[in-house]
Amino acid sequence: MYRTKTCGELRIADVGTQVTLAGWVQRVRRMGGMTFVDLRDRYGITQLVFESTNAELCERANHLGREFCIQATGNVSERESKNDKLPTGDIEIIVSALNVLSESVTPPFTIEDNTDGGDDLRMKYRYLDLRRPSVRSNLELRHKMTILIRNFLDSKNFIEVETPILIGSTPEGARDFVVPSRMNPGQFYARPQSPQTLKQLLMVSGFDRYFQIAMCFRDEDLRADRQPEFTQIDCEMSFVEQDDVIDLFEDMARHLFKEIRNVELPAKLQQMTWANAMRLYGSDKPDLRFGMTFVELMDVMKKGKFSVFDDAAYIGGICVPGCAEYTRKQLDQLTEFVKRPQVGAKGLVYVKYNNDGTIKSSVDKFYTPEDLLELKQQMGANDGDLVLILSGDNANKTRTQLCSLRLEMGERLGLRDKNRFECLWIVDFPLFEWSDEEQRLMATHHPFTMPNPDDIPLLESHPEQVRAKAYDFVCNGIEVGGGSLRIHDGQLQEKMFGILGFTPERAMAQFGFLINAFKYGAPPHAGLAFGLDRFVSIMAGLDSIRDCIAFPKNNSGRDVMLDAPSEIDQSQLDELFLQVDKSRIQAEK
Ligand code: AMO
Repeated sequence: MYRTKTCGELRIADVGTQVTLAGWVQRVRRMGGMTFVDLRDRYGITQLVFESTNAELCERANHLGREFCIQATGNVSERESKNDKLPTGDIEIIVSALNVLSESVTPPFTIEDNTDGGDDLRMKYRYLDLRRPSVRSNLELRHKMTILIRNFLDSKNFIEVETPILIGSTPEGARDFVVPSRMNPGQFYARPQSPQTLKQLLMVSGFDRYFQIAMCFRDEDLRADRQPEFTQIDCEMSFVEQDDVIDLFEDMARHLFKEIRNVELPAKLQQMTWANAMRLYGSDKPDLRFGMTFVELMDVMKKGKFSVFDDAAYIGGICVPGCAEYTRKQLDQLTEFVKRPQVGAKGLVYVKYNNDGTIKSSVDKFYTPEDLLELKQQMGANDGDLVLILSGDNANKTRTQLCSLRLEMGERLGLRDKNRFECLWIVDFPLFEWSDEEQRLMATHHPFTMPNPDDIPLLESHPEQVRAKAYDFVCNGIEVGGGSLRIHDGQLQEKMFGILGFTPERAMAQFGFLINAFKYGAPPHAGLAFGLDRFVSIMAGLDSIRDCIAFPKNNSGRDVMLDAPSEIDQSQLDELFLQVDKSRIQAEK
């Protein structure tokens, strides 16, 4: 037997028993002729003691290196100096037999929560990084969540079905990852961006309630909450309305927050329309952990006095409580912040309502004190508050900039507390959004989303005004999940394709399988997908979803451990009838 106990379970009640443990050497210390070894496994750390009376054993212990994999047998004994930071800190093992199972070369960084290894190094040796308790606990949490999710959905009659990860490429959405087919030269599969159409087909098949913990693939620019391959809790239901879906998945979220974090979500989550979210927060994923909602200032500030505001299509402000004392330097920093290319504003206007009743602003020479008192009232500001204003010639762009500023202020004031969870649904999304790049309307979610029945008359005349039967689950400013009611009527679906610029032939070529399936008694259906990685990272309070993925990619989409992607052999290319344009690659470098 390799072990009789784990390194995390021995307590004072075990004193006097003989045990065998197996694990990795965390640390070796010599003290007064004795040698102490911290032995680590998945479950914790236990102290091993090699007594000077057994010189031969002690000598062997002295030759143990960090991360050696060993097995030790001995008696559990009460420690003289207890360590209350460790659950096993009351005991130690007086070792009588030591067996080195596997030696280790010196690891490239220390395997401790406060490691000395940088990001790149830890990515390269991810299997060692995963030995660190903080990283391992994220994966344990992920495991716990998937088990809870499976059990919850099973109890609600959902059936787990796997769908293929070699499918056909579709033009909507992000870029596809494609896979060449050897047996069908010149043709390509695509990796699914989500199992969207397949789960709809399962509804046509009568499965009624489906779920899958599904890998999804999207070739898009990466951010802290985006990976090229990620996991969805993908669900679909038949014979339901929007509120049925929302209620069920709200219950699931409530169950997860209770079980994982012991947090009670409110009995009913807030539903905010997309239009209100944009108006008040400049974002379709507002962070509700703090206020500072936007106030529109077109009436108050457009007075023919300050040309920047007079020419603006949007002027909006936020009131930052208690920050009137911001120094010149701090205000300059904020101006620099909004001018960064990532934010993109041209400048920032501030008004300080000082505690002594005086007002100081960057537009003192344009506005009278009365103007600024009117602003104070409009903003609902108090003495001691700082009002920050942005303006621009594109309303939605300016709102997005003000959103970045609001989040920055929330961050600076410590209001984005990772142990608070503010969840809500965003509803009534626009069905379409205009793409400058493609110069056409695109589906905001996907082409199968049901228009709001009240807006169907607007479909052809004013498509941009049509609201979708779509909903996003947002927590702490992150879109954790999204879904919609689906079109199950072939004619309406064809109309949608038409508005999206598909000819009937192209729609048939791309989505014929779905259009045809809908001819066979398609049930009304709806669904939703949560991003599992994002859900876990919120529960674990992580800054990046990378930290809850066993083997993530870096920001350039590379797996630095596997050194992928990589070139392939000429023979492999030949077999696939593929040629790489090396001169173009060189030219574009
Ligand atoms: P959507 O595209 O909104 O909807 O994706 C659903 C959820 O998946 C997560 N997500 C991601 N997580 C990590 N990295 C990414 N690159 C990434 N992209 C998306 C988000 C998001 O809320 N088929 C529809 C769902 C439906 O309508 O049922 C879909 O995929 O948390």
